[in-house]
Amino acid sequence: MSTIFRLDASIRQDGSVTRAVADTLEETIAEELGSPAVVRRDLGSNPIDPTLWPLAAFAGYTPEEQRTPEQVAAIQDAAALADEVVSADVLVFAVPLYNFGVSQHFKAWYDLVATDPRLSVGQSTVTGKPAFLVTARGGGYGAGTPREGWDHATGWMRRVLEDVWGLDLDVIETELTLAEVTPQMAELRDLAREQLAESHETARRSGRSVTIKLRPAA
Ligand SMILES: Cc1cc2nc3c(=O)[nH]c(=O)nc-3n(C[C@H](O)[C@H](O)[C@H](O)COP(=O)(O)O)c2cc1C
Repeated sequence: MSTIFRLDASIRQDGSVTRAVADTLEETIAEELGSPAVVRRDLGSNPIDPTLWPLAAFAGYTPEEQRTPEQVAAIQDAAALADEVVSADVLVFAVPLYNFGVSQHFKAWYDLVATDPRLSVGQSTVTGKPAFLVTARGGGYGAGTPREGWDHATGWMRRVLEDVWGLDLDVIETELTLAEVTPQMAELRDLAREQLAESHETARRSGRSVTIKLRPAA
């Protein structure tokens, strides 16, 4: 049976655009793969303890027999998180833009799993695995807009998922998600609704490509 690994980093459950678009994606992938198992890692409601990363990171530089019990436990936690990624057939990451940067929950998770040798720089064991990044931004960051270049999250996430881990990554981006609740963005609401509908359509299209991505190269 195939397995989907689904990670969510939105700090809200209700009204979350990344969760909704990732749901559409996951449903489509599940239809394609025929009832796969789904392993969920909800960082929004269950963030990673930030004290684990320094313990696991420095444990890597400490001879095994000199590691503290806390370091050993942190390495085990990192390995358990890495198992979820390494053993899945398809990876879905749903991560919003916060404060012009990457979600701290996603960064804390990444920092910890990347201490595991299977997911560290230059040693990735997940190269070529099909993966999807669903992201959302409250504002607009397109070319020529005042905030062009202010999204410092998507580029970093692409870097670590595509370049460091070598995943076969599709990115689904939705902008203007704050238009509905921001009076100054009222004139952008139609555009925002169009973009959201487009993202769900892209999620369905991307999801349907999963079987082709999973096919072994001839
Ligand atoms: C604390 C916080 C900070 C945010 N910072 C930004 C930001 O810097 N730029 C932006 O465009 N939107 C920002 N947003 C809006 C979110 O990116 C937007 O609401 C997005 O849809 C959140 O993802 P979700 O819908 O899955 O919860 C912020 C939202 C919150 C709650």
